[in-house]
Amino acid sequence: MSKENTFYITTPIYYPSDKLHIGHTYCTVATDSFARYKRLRGYDVMFLTGTDEHGQKIEEKAKEAGVTPQQFVDKIVEGEGGILDLWKLMNISNDRFIRTTDDYHVKSIQRIFRRMYDAGDIYKGKYSGMYCTPCESFWTESQLVDGKCPDCGRPVKYAEEEAYFFKLSKYAQPVKELLLTGEFLQPMSRVNEMIKNFIDPGLEDLCVSRTSFSWGIPVDFDPGHVVYVWVDALSNYITALGFDNDRYDDFDHYWPAVHIVGKEIVRFHSIIWPAMLMSMGLPLPKKVYGHGWLLIDGGKMSKSKGNVADPYLLAERYGVDALRFFLMRTFPFGSDGNFSNELLISCINADLANDLGNLVSRTGAMVKKYFGGTLPAEQEGDDAMDGELIAMASALHEKYAAEMDAFQPQNAIGEVFKVLSRANKYIDENAPWLLIKDETKKARLARVLYNLVETIRICAGLLVPFMPETAAEITRRMGADAIVWDDLCRFGVLPADVTVAQGDALFPRIDMDKELAALEEISAAQKAAAGAVNTEPVRPNVKIDDFAKCDLRVCKILACEKVPNSEKLLKFTLDDGSGKPRQILSGMQPFYPDPAVLVDKKVVAILNLPTRKMAGLESNGMLLSAEQGDLVRLCLVPDEIPAGAIIS
Ligand code: MSP
Repeated sequence: MSKENTFYITTPIYYPSDKLHIGHTYCTVATDSFARYKRLRGYDVMFLTGTDEHGQKIEEKAKEAGVTPQQFVDKIVEGEGGILDLWKLMNISNDRFIRTTDDYHVKSIQRIFRRMYDAGDIYKGKYSGMYCTPCESFWTESQLVDGKCPDCGRPVKYAEEEAYFFKLSKYAQPVKELLLTGEFLQPMSRVNEMIKNFIDPGLEDLCVSRTSFSWGIPVDFDPGHVVYVWVDALSNYITALGFDNDRYDDFDHYWPAVHIVGKEIVRFHSIIWPAMLMSMGLPLPKKVYGHGWLLIDGGKMSKSKGNVADPYLLAERYGVDALRFFLMRTFPFGSDGNFSNELLISCINADLANDLGNLVSRTGAMVKKYFGGTLPAEQEGDDAMDGELIAMASALHEKYAAEMDAFQPQNAIGEVFKVLSRANKYIDENAPWLLIKDETKKARLARVLYNLVETIRICAGLLVPFMPETAAEITRRMGADAIVWDDLCRFGVLPADVTVAQGDALFPRIDMDKELAALEEISAAQKAAAGAVNTEPVRPNVKIDDFAKCDLRVCKILACEKVPNSEKLLKFTLDDGSGKPRQILSGMQPFYPDPAVLVDKKVVAILNLPTRKMAGLESNGMLLSAEQGDLVRLCLVPDEIPAGAIIS
């Protein structure tokens, strides 16, 4: 096949530092949908995904787990329930899977490093800067946000070491020009971000080797240095095609690529990667598309938010196609979206069970009931009644293709669902259940059903990138042999006397309340199993002003004794910083059998509570304590904080 007809698409290579979550799945499913779409269009597609296995973070995690880094990544990538299993489960159609620990990649990287060195673009220097270990990124002071890593918000630390640098600054102008073409990086908002945040403030040369850890690819001409992550990681897109290695020989055929990446790594793909390619004199990628993030409760995905967003669990409960469809249907590809189980269930109920599933089963049932499963060839059209549906179904492929070509799967699916809704309305308008009652209207009824079958065939075929199995099943039921692009562009492909098959409900309706309750239980059980201490939901928000009304201060315990005739109360005499002792009673006796140990300790008290009388004594405030089950302790404050200090 000629090169004009090739399409090379990639996902980022994932860090095998932990199990992947629904956010990673989103990125891979989207890329898979684009790859499947291009195959449908007849392209010779190469779809690559893989894992980014080197670096300090992995080295540290392996150490914690007491295994070698290679053993650690092998388990996450190839082990049961690992990354390869997840992609298999999600029906990802990648043609290749690269691991940066693969021998051929390692050799290529050493050659690539030398190429840039020989081009005069790599020099030795000293790196000092603020370093974020989890992100493996150095940052300048001005890039930090509140002194923390601008990507992940975690603390950074000062670091200094001998390192090789890549002359990124040399490429600032050509990279800016590339970005300004508007074609290379999309969506356009990301272009503005890159120019404003990185290029215009001045590109700094990039640290490309490290000496402080060893889990990486050694620089062959300077042992002790390992190639620092981004040169290793970004080059995967060409080494996987055989660039600078003998494993494959597809570079000339498939390169350049379309890179689908999350927004936080757009900078690496749209600035550093083209500069590296320029240095090597190689063609630049066709496109970088920076998609948004899936968030939970408006924030980053994290384990503490529970595992109801675990792709394995969701695929098991609702089916792989439903999950894939939901991801592509619900979130605009270029922007962030808030994931929730509720959204997922409503999407399945509204779009899949109702609009699509019902249409398929109603149509199948009517063809069976009225004609025994095969339509008669004698049919009667009615332009006024049929025109709009046929026009919409016939024009669908063009609108759909425009959206898919612009990497807008959500809109492409939206176009398909406009036609499906129209088809549902068409049933009501034509009322087949009335037509059947009139013997003279049989031919008309047959045509109504034929139009529905054809519309469903086209719509299902266009959903194949998102729901491969379901689309194939619907196509089969509608009596078509295969999903072929040209056939999706034409209405009237099926013979008039088509035989339609029936089957189980494609997407049974889910009872939202019951399902959410079941998920809640699963989540609580998972948290408990993972050792979570408290699965109580967080109480409703309070305004910061309301919180500020509480006068919380550090108090030093001057004296502490049991209250006579009480089994619970202790009487605290406190220095609250005012110069006048304060008395507070607290039910701490069961937890501090020897109250004397508390003397001189500093605790937190809320002072502005109304005076209360307990066991005949006054209590002016309350001491804060922490409790878990039977364990209760006063909240203690470090000794260097003076009594009277305000807690805010
Ligand atoms: N290893 C680098 C990429 C190197 S590519 C040469 C990396 N790995 S990652 O595992 O942290 O992230 C991989 C991809 O997953 C990124 O595109 C990232 O945006 C995406 N996602 C991670 N969490 C995500 C969401 N919550 N939502 C959507 N995508 C997310 O970065």
